Amino acid sequence: MGARAKKKSAEIPTQKTLFGSDAHHQPGQTEPMISSDTNEWYTPRWALDLVIKVLGGIDLDPCSNSHEDPNVPATHHLTKDDDGLSKPWTGRVFMNPPYGDEIEAWVDKLILEYEKENISEAIALTGARTDTAWFKKLLNYPFPCCLVDGRIKFSNAKNSSTIGSAFFYLGPDVVKFSNVFKEIGTIVTAMAMKNPPKHARL
Ligand SMILES: C[S@@+](CC[C@H](N)C(=O)[O-])C[C@H]1O[C@@H](n2cnc3c(N)ncnc32)[C@H](O)[C@@H]1O
Repeated sequence: MGARAKKKSAEIPTQKTLFGSDAHHQPGQTEPMISSDTNEWYTPRWALDLVIKVLGGIDLDPCSNSHEDPNVPATHHLTKDDDGLSKPWTGRVFMNPPYGDEIEAWVDKLILEYEKENISEAIALTGARTDTAWFKKLLNYPFPCCLVDGRIKFSNAKNSSTIGSAFFYLGPDVVKFSNVFKEIGTIVTAMAMKNPPKHARL
């Protein structure tokens, strides 16, 4: 193995450590990872390390599990009791919103806070739900997104997720985001063309 390959394997977790040994959903798996039964899927540490590599630090987790024992190492946390959706957001934000119908409100809030320049930069972790309006909203926002290879094993879960995941970036350093996150998936940016050629009608 060459020096470059050695360095890469030391820094970048393997498919197994990233996503768990059960990286792909097995038919008959008894613990569906993303279900509407719970919203408590915690971001794995390796993903938080990538987020911190891009943002330099996290000022706010607006949808945190706890003040006392938060999963995300942010300076400030807003929990369900605080209702993070109703509070102003500031600084560098990492958002892994509750999975369920309320996710659209979190996406709208993230975009609004970014457009009002209350937050300087943000990364959001969501399910790769290309069939939803909120996902399209984020995808069509003029920033890159990383479609994660395989399926994430959330830090409090026994099995990997039953769906794919995406990390969305909002901020000035799209190159940094792309370079860091390309190691775990495919970087995509929506292509909006005013007058697309016939063969490329969008
Ligand atoms: C998918 S979990 C993410 C937890 C943690 N931020 C992480 O990334 O590991 C979503 C969290 O949002 C919290 N939550 C639900 N509704 C909320 C609200 N209105 N305001 C703040 N947090 C909320 C849930 O309790 C849950 O811990």
